Amino acid sequence: MKNVRLSIATMMTVVLASAACADAGAAPTSLGAGVYTKEQAESGKAIFTQNCSSCHNADFYKTVLQTWRGQPLTYLFEQVMSAMPADKPGALLDTEYEDAFAYVLEIVGFPSGETRLEYGSGMMDDIPLEVAP
Ligand code: HEC
Repeated sequence: MKNVRLSIATMMTVVLASAACADAGAAPTSLGAGVYTKEQAESGKAIFTQNCSSCHNADFYKTVLQTWRGQPLTYLFEQVMSAMPADKPGALLDTEYEDAFAYVLEIVGFPSGETRLEYGSGMMDDIPLEVAP
């Protein structure tokens, strides 16, 4: 009897573990779920310091997130890619904008995760902007 109970428990563990694996493969769909990696934010810090911090600080981004809440991240990201840095719009590579944005998310208080923030993958379409924690 004990053995039967044990094997059911084992089966449950396998089922739960594979569900968790499937989850880890899917791109996160909220800012609170970790839409950038720690390494990415680290590389973004240097890009941000060089290209963005002379004009904006974390409080500025909090206000922007408040204003844009509910809109897909894609919209704000495309706005930044085409208009920022204000003194040389479009000057950065896509990956540099991605990393700088990852750093912005970090300084306003959103957590990092397993997935790199990427524009080309379309993941930003499914991530609504929200007020910083
Ligand atoms: C030379 C100054 C300057 C630099 C450098 C700069 N910005 Fe801006 N940024 C501005 C100005 C001016 C605005 C518009 C002001 C406003 O919306 O109140 C703005 C607006 C923004 C907005 C809000 C956009 C919107 O439409 O609401 C974001 C986000 C932003 N900047 C991000 C960045 C990022 C990321 C960088 C670095 C890659 C950067 N900025 C570099 C001056 C700058």
